[in-house]
Amino acid sequence: MPFPMEPFRIKVVEPIKPTTREERQRVLQEAGYNVFRIPSEKILVDMLTDSGTSAMSDNQWAGMMVGDEAYAQCRNWANFESAVRGIFGYQFVIPCHQGRAAENYLFENLVNEGKIVLSNTHFDTTRAQVQHHRGLPLDLVISEGHDPAAEHPFKGNIDIERAERVISEESAEKIAFGFLTITNNSSGGQPVSLENARAFSQLLKRHGLPMFFDAARYAENCYFIKRREAGQENRSVKEIAAELFSFAVGAWMSAKKDALVNMGGFITVDDEDLARRVTDSVILNEGFFTYGGLAGRDLEAVARGLLEGLREEYLAYRISQVEEIGRQLTAAGVPIIRPTGGHAVYIDAKLILPHIPQANFPGVALTYALYRDYGIRGVEIGSLMLAQEDPETGEMKYPDMELMRICVPRRVYTASHLQYVIDSIIELCSRASEIRGLELTYAAPTLRHFTARFKEVE
Ligand code: F0G
Repeated sequence: MPFPMEPFRIKVVEPIKPTTREERQRVLQEAGYNVFRIPSEKILVDMLTDSGTSAMSDNQWAGMMVGDEAYAQCRNWANFESAVRGIFGYQFVIPCHQGRAAENYLFENLVNEGKIVLSNTHFDTTRAQVQHHRGLPLDLVISEGHDPAAEHPFKGNIDIERAERVISEESAEKIAFGFLTITNNSSGGQPVSLENARAFSQLLKRHGLPMFFDAARYAENCYFIKRREAGQENRSVKEIAAELFSFAVGAWMSAKKDALVNMGGFITVDDEDLARRVTDSVILNEGFFTYGGLAGRDLEAVARGLLEGLREEYLAYRISQVEEIGRQLTAAGVPIIRPTGGHAVYIDAKLILPHIPQANFPGVALTYALYRDYGIRGVEIGSLMLAQEDPETGEMKYPDMELMRICVPRRVYTASHLQYVIDSIIELCSRASEIRGLELTYAAPTLRHFTARFKEVE
C-alpha cells in the first residue's frame, strides 16, 4: 500500500463535480491564466494551499457548538489561551483573524524605517508586511536551501555565519529582530533543526536582539526534528516544540495551517510591554483582545485543533502523504525539491520547461496547464510571486527557483485523489514541450500573484 491509511473515518462529504477540458480552457481565459481567479466549483482537486483548507474533526465541530459569543472574556478564549500557552510557553496570547494580521500588529511595534529583519526566508505576506512598515527583509537560508536537488535533512536552516556577518557589518542597531519560518514555506516547506534554532538564538542574544518564530507549520517542523535530528527520536513532538519555542521571546501563527482550522491566528510573547502595544493594535483593528476578529466558536476550534495537530499518528500520516507524492514523482523522473517538506511538493518548472524563459513565467505556465488538462489547481512560487525590480537600475531580479507548489490540504483528500494528482503530473511532464509561456497583462504593485492577469505567448 503506497499511501498511509487515513487515521480517520469520513462522516461528512462534499461533492466535487467534473468539468471538461473545453470548459476549463474557457475558465482559464476568463481568469487571465491566474488560478487564484478560478471559481473553486470548477476545480476537481484543489492543491492551491494548505491554508484554511483543513477538514475539521467531529471534536472541533462539537466545539463550535459550545461557542460562547459574549463580547468579552468568553469561555472559549480561556481554552484558546491555555492551549497556546501550553504549547508555546509564552505568557501573553493575543488572538487575531489570520497570520498576516498577526504580522502587521507585531511589526507595527517592532520595525522602524530602514531596519533589517533577519530570517531563513520571509514568506511573501511576511516580506510584504515588513516592507509595509518600511523595514528591510533579509533572507539567509543555507545555500542547500536554494538548490532543489541538494539532499539535506534541514534545508530550512538559516546560515548562521552569514547572519553573524550581517550583524557585524551592519551593527546590531540597524537590525529590528530575527525570526525563523518553521517550516520554511518559500523554499520547499523545509524544516529547521533544533540545533540551528539554538545557534541563531545564541547569536541574536549576544547582540541583544530578539528572536521570534513564524510558527504556521511548527508541528510539522517538530515532527521532522523527531524523525531526522540525532537524539530527538524518543521525545514527543510537544516536548520538542517546547524546547524550540524556549529559544525565542515570542511567535506568531497563522492557525489556518497546523491548528487545523479554516480561520484564525495569534501572537504570543513574553514581553509585557510589547504585548500591551500589540494588544492596543488588535483592539483598534480586530476587536476586543479576547476574540481578535474571531467568533467564540472559532476560538474553540483553534484550541482543539492545536492539540489535534500535535498528535503523532496524524503527523505521521500527513508527512507520509507528501513523501509518497514525492517518491512517485521522483521515480518517474519529475524534478522536485528534495527531500520533500511538510505540507507540499514543489515541482521544478525551470527544469521541466527549459524552453520558457523566466520572464515568461515557467511556474505559472506549468500551473495553468495542470489545471487546463486535469482540473488540478497548484500554485506558482517563482517569478510571479518573487521577482522584484531593482529600485535603482530598474532591472528585474529573478528568483533562483521557478516552482509549482502542490499543497496537501489537511485530512481532505484520500489516497485515490492523490494518486490522480501524481498520475496527471507525470503525464503532463511527458509532453511539457507543448506548454507555452505567458506575458503579464496586469500586475498590482505588491503581492501581484493574487490578482495578476496574463496572455499566452504566441
Ligand atoms: N507565514 C507563513 C509561513 C505562511 O505560509 C503564511 C500563509 C503566512 C505567514 C500568512 O498567513 O495566510 O493566515 O495570513 N501561507 C499561505 C500559503 C497563504 O498558501 O502558503 P495567513
